[in-house]
Amino acid sequence: MRWAIEAGYRHVDTAALYRNEASVAAGIRAAGVAREEVFVTTKVWNTDQGYDRTMRAFDASLRELGFDHVDLYLIHWPSPAQGLAGETWRALERLRDDGRARSIGVSNFEPHHLDQLAETSDVVPSVNQVELHPYLQQRHLQDYCSGRGIRLEAWSPLAKGAVVGDPVLSRIGTRHGKDPVQVTLRWMLQLGIATIPKSVRRSRIASNAEVYDFALSDDELAELGTLDRNGRTGPHPDRF
Ligand SMILES: NC(=O)c1ccc[n+]([C@@H]2O[C@H](COP(=O)([O-])OP(=O)(O)OC[C@H]3O[C@@H](n4cnc5c(N)ncnc54)[C@H](OP(=O)(O)O)[C@@H]3O)[C@@H](O)[C@H]2O)c1
Repeated sequence: MRWAIEAGYRHVDTAALYRNEASVAAGIRAAGVAREEVFVTTKVWNTDQGYDRTMRAFDASLRELGFDHVDLYLIHWPSPAQGLAGETWRALERLRDDGRARSIGVSNFEPHHLDQLAETSDVVPSVNQVELHPYLQQRHLQDYCSGRGIRLEAWSPLAKGAVVGDPVLSRIGTRHGKDPVQVTLRWMLQLGIATIPKSVRRSRIASNAEVYDFALSDDELAELGTLDRNGRTGPHPDRF
């Protein structure tokens, strides 16, 4: 966390499931940066879905973090087998109305999960955080979300590191003096997709943030588009 803050990161993704909310918050404090400067996201886990459980889970997350609010609270997975997303969303609306979650959203929601949510609530999720990288570009979801004012956010943006050896990304990067990871992250920024790359190494944390001093051309963006191959690394949201 300290290295990331030093490198200019101001957006942190955590979740109750990861059991690192306390250490993430400790890292922010140790970095000596004001709480207001960092955008902190956490998430309610599947077994805590439902109105009352979610309210309790949120309290537990805030206690772990030691903050009085989070900037974004997400439903971690739609978990359709439970059928509790609507009730869970009602709890998130309450948390937002109380100011304890500045904004609320979802994660791993497919268009039909978002449609179901819209049947029970007029509050549109601010964000949908999904697996998205050059090998799983989620174009249908991109169109669906942009048409409804939902910001897409990419998890595993580097396909868990797989983009590193990609020849197309390498070739594009060479033209700009950048590596495949930087090309991938720049591509997302140009598409308006928020992104949360992870590394535990200081040098990579720093280099992954060096994406604001070059731009990909339309031809390069189109070339990147050809890498899409339904390369999902995580579970499908309908079956998890
Ligand atoms: N909402 C959800 O359901 C969900 C699911 C999964 C993940 N997430 C979120 O998404 C974040 C990122 O996802 P992720 O960790 O699965 O995948 P990722 O960010 O796509 O990839 C991380 C991997 O890439 C390596 N890496 C990072 N920078 C590199 C570089 N410059 N050169 C070479 N290798 C590099 C890392 O290794 P080192 O660490 O060794 O550098 C690590 O093995 C997570 O931290 C989590 O917050 C959300």
